[in-house]
Amino acid sequence: MKIPISQRLLCCAAQVPVGARVADIGCDHGYLGIYLLQNGLATRVTASDLREKPLEKARENARRFGVAAFMEFAVADGLAAVAPETVDTIVVAGMGGDNIAAILDAAPWVRDPRYTLILQPQTSGNDLRRYLGEAGFAIEAERLVRDGGFLYFTILARFGGGRPLTPGEQYLSPQLLHSGDPLLGAYFDRVLAALARTVAGISAGGDFEKLSYYQRALDEVREMRNQYDSSNHP
Ligand SMILES: C[S@@+](CC[C@H](N)C(=O)[O-])C[C@H]1O[C@@H](n2cnc3c(N)ncnc32)[C@H](O)[C@@H]1O
Repeated sequence: MKIPISQRLLCCAAQVPVGARVADIGCDHGYLGIYLLQNGLATRVTASDLREKPLEKARENARRFGVAAFMEFAVADGLAAVAPETVDTIVVAGMGGDNIAAILDAAPWVRDPRYTLILQPQTSGNDLRRYLGEAGFAIEAERLVRDGGFLYFTILARFGGGRPLTPGEQYLSPQLLHSGDPLLGAYFDRVLAALARTVAGISAGGDFEKLSYYQRALDEVREMRNQYDSSNHP
């Protein structure tokens, strides 16, 4: 039986190291973990969600797809129910970037290079990248994916060697800029339009600290776009 998994989650799955022991935080229906087990990408999956209802569904789906023996289930906030020695890969997908940052921050044990983090924020990606840099996590790779008319990105990160990112880098990381991703042009368009709207909105309100952050982000991303255009269409 084929699992009805989204392109967005498949993009997360593609970054999971083969044979991983995975924690899927905010698992909802559990499709990601089930797919990883069905395809031999994970050997065990801890599926955790804040709410009981989705977890019941995930349990039922795991049974239906024949992988329940390789999964553990927990109702918990973030990583609270995950025993650090039982996993090496942590996926947090489909939540706001600020929520993902809060989940990582509440579990100091993830500050260890042995853990591969695969993060897919739906909103506030800049807040998540800012948090990662300030907390010392390095972004190793980013990928873009189109799903249902939306453009999403996934971050592969690990503790160690991270540095605070500039405002522009919080919107478009150096790893994404140099990824050669075919969707990068579309991502530039989206980020530049959003930043231009934000700057215009704040300019009217007069919050100078906020304005200087967003203006700097906009200028930096414009500069990246110029470099990207000239290296792709010299
Ligand atoms: C939009 S769904 C995403 C499901 C799946 N990860 C995906 O990307 O398709 C978000 C899920 O995260 C759960 N969630 C939100 N905050 C959470 C937290 N702090 N800890 C655990 N789960 C959380 C919600 O209950 C919900 O099931």
